Amino acid sequence: MREKIIIFDTTLRDGEQSPGASLSVHDKVEIARQLSRLNVDVIEAGFPVSSPTQFEAVKRISDESDKIIAGLCRAKEIDIKTAYDALRNAKHPRIHTFSSTSDIHVLGKFSDSKYGISLKEKKSTVLKMSVDAVAFAKTFTSDIEFSAEDAGRTDIGYLCEIIEAVIEAGATTINIPDTTGYTFPHELGNKFYEIKNRVKNINKIILSAHCHNDLGLAVANSISAINNGARQIECTINGIGERAGNASLEELVMALKVRKEINNYYTDINTTEIYNTSRMVSSYTGIIVQPNKAIVGDNAFAHESGIHQDGVLKDKSTYEIMTPESIGVPKSKIILGRHSGRHGLKSRLKELGYHPSEEEMQNVYESFLDLADKKKEVFDDDLRMLMGDEEITHSAYYKIDYLNVISGNAAIPTATVRIKSPENVFEESSTGDGPVDALFNAIDRALNIKPTVESYSVRSVTSGRQALGEVNLRLKFGNKYLGGRGLSTDIIEASCKAYLQAINHDVFLKMENQFDYEYENQIRFRG
Ligand code: KIV
Ligand code: ZN
Repeated sequence: MREKIIIFDTTLRDGEQSPGASLSVHDKVEIARQLSRLNVDVIEAGFPVSSPTQFEAVKRISDESDKIIAGLCRAKEIDIKTAYDALRNAKHPRIHTFSSTSDIHVLGKFSDSKYGISLKEKKSTVLKMSVDAVAFAKTFTSDIEFSAEDAGRTDIGYLCEIIEAVIEAGATTINIPDTTGYTFPHELGNKFYEIKNRVKNINKIILSAHCHNDLGLAVANSISAINNGARQIECTINGIGERAGNASLEELVMALKVRKEINNYYTDINTTEIYNTSRMVSSYTGIIVQPNKAIVGDNAFAHESGIHQDGVLKDKSTYEIMTPESIGVPKSKIILGRHSGRHGLKSRLKELGYHPSEEEMQNVYESFLDLADKKKEVFDDDLRMLMGDEEITHSAYYKIDYLNVISGNAAIPTATVRIKSPENVFEESSTGDGPVDALFNAIDRALNIKPTVESYSVRSVTSGRQALGEVNLRLKFGNKYLGGRGLSTDIIEASCKAYLQAINHDVFLKMENQFDYEYENQIRFRG
């Protein structure tokens, strides 16, 4: 009998913690719908107490989804109550609470003497807090997950003790995170083996693995965990997440599927939705999928050398261990043009997994016509890029109203911009070392800011001479890094959009911080 592996997708929580990624409520709801089409078992929709946007996203996803929806919370009553508030309309709500368990985390995060003086005292406080949190969470719902943060570096004796206690308190899933991506596959496998053998009530619950990719071992570690008793794997689309990211969903799922002759496990993932989901997550987060990325990279099914090409032409299986169709790469390119009409556009967007509102449809249709005028043939990737464009889906605070840039081998690069906010119009000109520098200087002058450009890259996202250009950049505001992405067939305009998007994220965070203060008071009051 093959055994099922539960796929717990944390793209919207851990994945969103990727440096530079920030998703709006709208983007999260769209991604959650696509995750349902992919047929994941659990969607971790966010960390509700951490901000009003997180709360709202978890709530909106809970309101409409049939899946198990998880909300993360620390081992604190206020976090748990807030998580449940966000999850309360879910058909299958799961409260996911966590405590740090490694010595290094306990000493670092519980350094205050109120948690005890010695390490031993602090560990017993953490154990009590964890048990109390699980018991409290249990008063709201039956499905409770407990994570022992940094379990990968936690001493096995203490880990087993805390696991047994939280199971006794009502936890139904126990997650073993390799938070720092430190372990080797055989080590993590042994940890699961020990837990299975030492914890006496372990058969009451599902064991789960949550592996980070700091040493590039997250998927291998997850498979080793499965071989030693894990029946739930936490992972993200494209492997995005904190630092080097999390175990990649598509790699894990396809590994189990392609090598089914040597393993006894299956998932319920609809693998033909992998490609669409990967592209959607990339376009909303602005995190590019590296070309050589396993399964979903552009080169994953490309054969460059003559010998390989010859082999594949004669028999695909010579160099392909899975088919592009098995992950949903379309066989032929669907091309839309100006004459495809609104209806054609809407139905193609639907096939790609998007559900634009009436207003978004109007915006995307206008952008589509604009693009079709410039490049005649509009490909799926162009549409995905349009759908990920801020101007279509949310109302940015600063919008570009006018842009003029002069450059050439005999001209001093000069830019003039007019930017509108809901209250004001800002206009300025500036010169620079090149057209992009002149543009950024003009925006800085207009808005009276001076962020540092930490990185800037431009690439063509679709094919052909009139391809869409995508600019990705990272700005540093004080000690904060924010990403921006812009798209246009004109790379100067794309640069302007990317720069303004990062600035808009900064404005948004400032507004949210202000709002957070009121929000904190509000939840403190509720608590
Ligand atoms: O990596 C980690 O430890 C986590 C937990 C909160 C599950 O993300
Ligand atoms: Zn994590």
